[in-house]
Amino acid sequence: MAFPEAAIDAISASLAYVEDFLVEDEPLRAARRRGEEVGATPIGPAGGAALRFITAMIGARTVVEVGSGCGVSGIWLLRGMARDAVLTSVDVDHEHQRLAKIAYREAGLGASRTRMIVGRALEVLPRLTDGAYDMVFCDAAKQEYPEYLAAALRLLRPGGVVAFDNALWHHRVADPSRRDAETEAIREVGRLVRDDDRLVPLLLPVGDGLLCAVKRA
Ligand SMILES: C[S@@+](CC[C@H](N)C(=O)[O-])C[C@H]1O[C@@H](n2cnc3c(N)ncnc32)[C@H](O)[C@@H]1O
Repeated sequence: MAFPEAAIDAISASLAYVEDFLVEDEPLRAARRRGEEVGATPIGPAGGAALRFITAMIGARTVVEVGSGCGVSGIWLLRGMARDAVLTSVDVDHEHQRLAKIAYREAGLGASRTRMIVGRALEVLPRLTDGAYDMVFCDAAKQEYPEYLAAALRLLRPGGVVAFDNALWHHRVADPSRRDAETEAIREVGRLVRDDDRLVPLLLPVGDGLLCAVKRA
């Protein structure tokens, strides 16, 4: 679907309104600043709010996050989870996880709420227990998204949710002339999620795009 120029301005204004609808508090703003400083680009506020909404809606007690960054998405996820629920968060970068731990502490989330694992996602995910997780959130290496989906299908309980940030990848996914490896991998995971009968798919146009799916019971 192509939009006329005037409509594009209106759509941009509406999307900005959505991003600003829920204002982040100081712990989230501080985590976001640190994430941007070290190049661990955080999920946007509306995407974060969607994560919190999903964890609250499904009563998530066990969540795997692939790509801790400096803790923005982790705070949003944990704020929707039960008070004693645990976020397992994986990142290859020690320093990013150190900053994520600071962010959780500043947000009033105790160390018992997180299990932080340093390592490459594709080496760590096979060590986690099958069918034991309510949600898997993916936000690490974009080229690996199809492999994260395969891991998520194994890790999720029936009724669990998988979500991928950057599903629109800075407007490249919708532009057929963009054929770089990251864009292609994100398109591929979109096709895989859409065409898998075991999943109920949804592509949300919040922030840089949040691709979600429920694993059917
Ligand atoms: C976009 S940032 C994550 C931002 C975070 N989810 C947030 O919203 O605050 C991506 C993170 O993935 C990590 N990463 C990149 N490749 C990885 C891999 N193969 N395995 C694990 N972590 C990886 C990076 O170190 C970085 O911290």
